[in-house]
Amino acid sequence: MGKINIAGAKTLEGKVRIGGAKNASLPILAATLLAESKNTIKEVPPLKDVLTICEVLKQLGCSVEFGENGEIDVDSSELTEVEASDELVRQMRASFLVIGPLLARMKKARIPLPGGCAIGSRPIDLHLKGFAALGADIKFNHGFVEATCDDLIGDRVYLDFPSVGATENLMMAATRAKGETVIENAAEEPEVVDLANFLNKLGAKVVGAGTDTIKIEGVKELSGTEHTVIPDRIEAGTFMAAAAISRGDVLIENVISEHVKPVMRKMEEMGVSVTESDGNVRIKSKGRQLKPVKLKTLPYPGYPTDMQPQMVSLLSTVPGESIVTETVFENRFRHVEELKRMNANIIVQGNSAIINGASSLLGAPIKATDLRAGASLVLAGLVAEGTTQVHDMYHLERGYYGFMDKLSKLGAEIWKDHENIKKVL
Ligand code: EPZ
Repeated sequence: MGKINIAGAKTLEGKVRIGGAKNASLPILAATLLAESKNTIKEVPPLKDVLTICEVLKQLGCSVEFGENGEIDVDSSELTEVEASDELVRQMRASFLVIGPLLARMKKARIPLPGGCAIGSRPIDLHLKGFAALGADIKFNHGFVEATCDDLIGDRVYLDFPSVGATENLMMAATRAKGETVIENAAEEPEVVDLANFLNKLGAKVVGAGTDTIKIEGVKELSGTEHTVIPDRIEAGTFMAAAAISRGDVLIENVISEHVKPVMRKMEEMGVSVTESDGNVRIKSKGRQLKPVKLKTLPYPGYPTDMQPQMVSLLSTVPGESIVTETVFENRFRHVEELKRMNANIIVQGNSAIINGASSLLGAPIKATDLRAGASLVLAGLVAEGTTQVHDMYHLERGYYGFMDKLSKLGAEIWKDHENIKKVL
């Protein structure tokens, strides 16, 4: 999808169902490499990033079959390769998550350096430091990381930053190491917990996931299982922001409210009505005067960085001064320049955006720079006066399945050029 048009000043109403979590699906699909067997993963969103990691699994020798309702069958009985292609890893840096399972099972891996992206340099030093602590020999060769080991030996690893990917990679590597591994200052994200639950269903011995200390007792072998991934808390948060920015009233279904607590509490502080009920969250800001807030992104259970751009768009429509501080990534305000083209009043100072939501947003031609920034611009287009054209919409296909269709069903008017305005994408 290249460019879309959004008619503004719309109020969203109705209900929307959230799909499986992208950021749980990717590590769990990588973890299927750990067992010489078949695995069935359910509720996986059919996103471009999911297809990419499945291509990597196939490159390594797995057979991958797509069933109904997001079911993916992976048979990793035989692995024929320990190398992933540069082209695929460049397409989706989370492919680097296969290095931990390959080291654990094959004692070697040759994976391209994932490189940076729009939001930051995305180093992998914590991943590599952890593998080395477990006895792996790490070399850099022609843009590839070459990791080998005789055996991985359990040890204690302290993460300088609670990196989600490093926690996941090291947890997977440690499942088949000799002895116990302790990951200290581990990431506590729900996706880390979902991966740990999957690993334990394979026969691994992981305790403490969801806290800052995770212990993994290595086992000799693992066997296949089936697993349903958790709902996507960032997709849920994005629709919560869409309901709030449009001053609408939306029931968001298939939500684990604990996972979206930081977003719910910040919205309540703004004056949005938030009602939690068994697996659903209702967001109502119709007829409510919203208030400015201060917000700082932090590792879970703090406010999620992946919901920062969406909140900047929402606060651009709230009179008064709000301050949003990004502490996780070094370059995650690229949506601000695009929002300013829509008459948003935002000043970026260091790692903070100072937002004055007095004036209304005006439709304009803008550009999605990355996945979550793109989502934030679509939300702004929903409420701007006039029509907004968002270019480079392919970014959104990486992380939101059926995003335009779901928004249209809630009352948004979104179309491609030369299409009937009413036609749903
Ligand atoms: C995961 O990325 C998510 N991606 C990201 O979601 C999310 O923003 C991020 O976690 C933080 O929550 C997936 O799960 C596929 P990190 P990851 O390692 O694992 C620094 C989205 O939009 N760091 O926790 O790459 C790093 O530079 C994406 O869905 C090191 O310094 O994130 C960053 O500043 C975007 N050295 C911080 O840690 C390392 O070795 C957080 O990175 C690793 C990370």
